[in-house]
Amino acid sequence: MQIRKRPRRTALLAMVSAAATAATGLVFASTADAATTLGASAAEKGRYFGAAIAAGRLGDSTYTRLLTTEFTSVTPENEMKWDATEPQQGRFSFTNGDRILNQGLSNGSKVRGHALLWHAQQPGWAQSLSGSALRNAAINHVTQVAGHYKGKIYAWDVVNEAFADGGSGGRRDSNLQRTGNDWIEAAFRAARAADPAAKLCYNDYNTDGINAKSTGIYTMVRDFKARGVPIDCVGFQSHLGTGIDSSYQANLQRFADLGVDVQITELDVQQGGNQANIYATVTRACLAVARCTGITVWGIRDSDSWRDDNPLLFDGGGNKKAAYTSVLNALNAGGTTTPPSSPPVTTSPPPSGGGACAATVSLNSWNGGYVATVRVNAGSAPVNGWTVAVALPSGSAVTSTWNATATGSPGTVSFRNVTYNGQIPAGGHTEFGFQGTGAGPTATPACTVT
Ligand code: XIL
Repeated sequence: MQIRKRPRRTALLAMVSAAATAATGLVFASTADAATTLGASAAEKGRYFGAAIAAGRLGDSTYTRLLTTEFTSVTPENEMKWDATEPQQGRFSFTNGDRILNQGLSNGSKVRGHALLWHAQQPGWAQSLSGSALRNAAINHVTQVAGHYKGKIYAWDVVNEAFADGGSGGRRDSNLQRTGNDWIEAAFRAARAADPAAKLCYNDYNTDGINAKSTGIYTMVRDFKARGVPIDCVGFQSHLGTGIDSSYQANLQRFADLGVDVQITELDVQQGGNQANIYATVTRACLAVARCTGITVWGIRDSDSWRDDNPLLFDGGGNKKAAYTSVLNALNAGGTTTPPSSPPVTTSPPPSGGGACAATVSLNSWNGGYVATVRVNAGSAPVNGWTVAVALPSGSAVTSTWNATATGSPGTVSFRNVTYNGQIPAGGHTEFGFQGTGAGPTATPACTVT
């Protein structure tokens, strides 16, 4: 959608107070034990609820009260962007980024890093570079910034907004794109090397349904997973207008089925008749997708927003809007699907026999279900196809699978490679996963080459 940025500020105040009056008329009954904050309610569903915040507003007591009571994740609105962190080439400035980081960590929140590489908000010196000088500078930027925050960031937007709008499904032209189509994977590899603990995300907008742009990104992520380019998550900015695509949830699910987490990263919704409903629809979609790990709104109060159409959950006075109540109710009413929380990848040495494979499984379980991540290791010879047999305890059944096809649930389930991950080089590995009900498998799976 087209975003109208705020010219600001006089006419807006009247609109804000009208919105406040409208919102205070709305009181929803809640059950005695329902969570009363966004963060607490999301946590009950195994998710975070975050906000983009600005270092310059941390002295505002209403702002910090809302931040610390309602939110369990923070994203720097501008403070970790390239122009902020490397204003002169090779001279890094982390003061404001560190303020956001420390605000989040001191409140027990997750911190989303945003954004290592982007065509916008580049420092002037980078804008005037091209070719290998720009490529080297960009990779150095990723290495230095991700390295500075090593071990502290939950998820990094490694690359932001690299795809074109419209029907092409292709890349956006930019100085970075002109360094070669592989600039995105080079950035992800550099980020993994600099901070192996952070989840690495690709983040974009106008991807709020199954469309040409989101399909272009989907194809890239599938290719990255097949070739072992390190990517863990996809961010959907979700800057929304007065409607929401009916395929919003299905789009999240198809990415999750590739074996990446999905996150709503910059949610804001034009104020109007549908604002509260659209917020609830997005919330329910995230709860319905097991690998949707959290939602971030792009600001706290309407007066903090980069937009001029009052798109947030609190009005300019810090009062809860109808949209707030709608999100909280959706969270409290939501199902119990729980996303995997940073699965510990259990590694075992690859088997020594040629043409053989071995599999290990790591589990994230909750009461009534689990997500299993299975790693398939090739031995000292390449593997051209594989099946992995997993014995499920009685009462357990597989409900969804990614990066493999499953037959035989319940009992012993056989997972077979899909077209893009059957071939594993000697000593290499691939991963697939599945979600199930009941208790997860405990025995080591049996891997067979085919
Ligand atoms: C916006 C900020 O909110 C503004 O303060 C700044 O002037 C411009 O950038 N997509 C993104 C965000 O990934 O970084 C943008 O944030 C909004 C669109």
